[in-house]
Amino acid sequence: MPKELIVAIDGPSGAGKSTLSKALAKRTGYINIDTGAMYRSVALLASRQQIDVDDEEALRDLCAELSIEFVREAEQERVIVNGEDVTQAIRTPEVSLLTSKVAACPAVRQALVGLQRQMGEAGGVVLEGRDIGTVVFPQAQVKFFLSATAEERGRRRYDELRTKGLEVDLQQTIAEVEARDAADSARELAPLKRADDAIDIDSTRMSIDEVLAEMLRIIAAKQREAVE
Ligand code: DC
Repeated sequence: MPKELIVAIDGPSGAGKSTLSKALAKRTGYINIDTGAMYRSVALLASRQQIDVDDEEALRDLCAELSIEFVREAEQERVIVNGEDVTQAIRTPEVSLLTSKVAACPAVRQALVGLQRQMGEAGGVVLEGRDIGTVVFPQAQVKFFLSATAEERGRRRYDELRTKGLEVDLQQTIAEVEARDAADSARELAPLKRADDAIDIDSTRMSIDEVLAEMLRIIAAKQREAVE
């Protein structure tokens, strides 16, 4: 029986973290914890309850009542918050915008990091986010830092939006990716930062399948190391 590891995947938005962590979870049988979805869920509830993003006390109370579950259903992974399926609702542009503000609130980070540690401490998990290898699980046995150039990530986002039938501009989409990177890295609290012992994977010129194969190879090697 392979050892149940903690696998951390950090990196900027658009590098392929979500796709890869879902694929990895499927192949290894591990549980996938999308920590961005957790911050998004807090933002969604705050917006519905008309809580100001600067009201730290109210956000702390909201997090104290929070229950989040990730449920794998055939091809889809669903996010259930306080019993409600919010999988779609947390993906709107409004929620994305609000999430970056909510994620800068110390009380929110403290509460969600606590939940993430509870969900992951037994191992057998893939956690994706920005601060997993540095803050949440510095002791994770496998840490990936997944990146790609801003231009490539902008292009992927552009293709995704076009596929959904949206009229978007490529240069503007790339500029938005760059602006979000700058905000994520400059933030005082838990900025996007590569852990010193993370394995770098640059996906700019790699397909999803190539990155997945590379990650599976590294995880299998770590599992062998862990049982020896
Ligand atoms: O990965 P994502 O786009 O779903 O993340 C949504 C937001 O949450 C984004 O602004 C970065 C933030 N986030 C964070 O601060 N820490 C994490 N561990 C995960 C996401």
